[in-house]
Amino acid sequence: MSSNRYPWLQKEKPQPEQQAPLLLPTKEIPGSYGIPFITPIKDRLDYYYFKGHDKFFQSKIDQYSSTVFRTNMIPGPFMASDPRVIAVLDAKSFPILFDTSKVEKKDVFTGTYMPSTKLTGGHRVCSYLDPSEPSHTKIKQFLFNLLKSRKDYFLPSFRSDYAARIFSSVESQVASNGQANFNDLNNDIAFDFLGKAYFGKSPSDVGASGLQKKVTIWLLLQLAPLASNVLTKLHVPKLVEDFLLHTFALPSFIAKPGYKSMYDYFNTAGSAALDLAEKVGLSRDEACHNLIFATSFNTYGGLRVLFPGLLARLAQSGRELHGRLATEVRQAVASHGENGQVTLGALEQMELAKSVVYEVLRIDPPVEFQYAHAKKDFLLQSHDAQFQVRKGEMLFGYQPFATRDTRVFGANAGEFVPDRFVGPDGAKLLRYVWWSNGPETEEPTVNDKQCAGKNFVVLVARLFVAEFFLSYDSFTAEISGSLVGSQVNITSLTKAKAKAGNFY
Ligand code: HEM
Repeated sequence: MSSNRYPWLQKEKPQPEQQAPLLLPTKEIPGSYGIPFITPIKDRLDYYYFKGHDKFFQSKIDQYSSTVFRTNMIPGPFMASDPRVIAVLDAKSFPILFDTSKVEKKDVFTGTYMPSTKLTGGHRVCSYLDPSEPSHTKIKQFLFNLLKSRKDYFLPSFRSDYAARIFSSVESQVASNGQANFNDLNNDIAFDFLGKAYFGKSPSDVGASGLQKKVTIWLLLQLAPLASNVLTKLHVPKLVEDFLLHTFALPSFIAKPGYKSMYDYFNTAGSAALDLAEKVGLSRDEACHNLIFATSFNTYGGLRVLFPGLLARLAQSGRELHGRLATEVRQAVASHGENGQVTLGALEQMELAKSVVYEVLRIDPPVEFQYAHAKKDFLLQSHDAQFQVRKGEMLFGYQPFATRDTRVFGANAGEFVPDRFVGPDGAKLLRYVWWSNGPETEEPTVNDKQCAGKNFVVLVARLFVAEFFLSYDSFTAEISGSLVGSQVNITSLTKAKAKAGNFY
């Protein structure tokens, strides 16, 4: 880690790497991996079925009185050859996962198992590459160049290809059925929007409508080991589901015909993008598989979780927050918009909307897990102690615990506080928002593993809030859990009455 990369850690204790800070006691990392094969399966069943995610980690924190401990992580046998990890669950120890001078992030994108490269045309795509691998630099640079070349299309495309379509579908479903399944609509519409935003052509524009269903199967094959309570809803016993989803990889040939259609679409619609790839020295074929992954897994997979999560928090916050957001959005559009529409300038004025987006990304990071291997021996610090980590050991962070750390975010760290990031004091906390696998105050580079689409994600999330409250004064929704994140059924929408000024 360069000496000023994480100044908030260093301000407190500017210590040389291996030297013990004066106040922190050095301790053995508590916890054990138990009996091989048996304990990993017990841990897996606890995690998925008997305790649940949060209780699984909280019970170990309580048992060891430590936010750093040894445990097995899912999915375990036979999916993962080695389930043993060192968990880092507080805001002090978690950033070790971003420090590429101490950790390696080769093949750890999905954790202790890696889906077959048959699902990605035989390539290890960018998300699985460590920055030390030369192709990582080329592919990440290619993705940066693509996003830059398309940046002027994001806003108009979001408005017409996402917001207008989804809002009218929600309205008509609420009118005819009394409710609208937001997740289903989002899953259908978001993929088309991405095609337009990234390439100027959606799958339906090139006769490939319905491609998102093939993408969904391809995603499920990769993510099944992380899923639970899917088949149990169909009355399949828990142990049978556990065996089917978590013990061996589902055969990749299931996705083969769908992947061929995906490849054809990206190869055709993404032709201008592939020209950019050749300029950084990538073959069109490798670039196309990376384009598929970055669009369909990184972006589409992320938006399938992020947008329902954002809407769920907004629904739960109620009318008072809706009113404040509607007022802010309409005032900003009146003063900085164009023809009554959102512009980037108007978006910049929306302090509360910005804060709401950061707060959602903090409290419900769409990707909850991060993994890495220690590149060398080093001392790992939590708030209370320091621990010796040995080269080769696997580190694991459960982000919702690290970003709800009361020692950083105060007693209300576990609550959704819409204004948390408003004003100069709020801005200081952004360095602890880590959804992108790095601090929100930093930009991703080819030398790190921070999300290449960080700015795109924040932009579309803000646009979501702005477009929503430009159109609606308020709404209600029923929220439940889904396979990943929240399931949102919108039950009512109140259309915007006032354009600007006071909402009430
Ligand atoms: C809500 C949406 C998104 C979320 C939550 C998200 C989250 C993440 C996270 C947590 C990582 C680090 C994973 C790890 O190594 O442990 C990551 C990496 C990555 N993301 Fe995103 N991402 C999103 C959208 C995007 C978009 C729009 C792109 C578009 C290009 C993108 C491209 C990538 C790439 C290429 C990497 C690997 C970076 C590297 O190898 O250096 N992601 N993302």
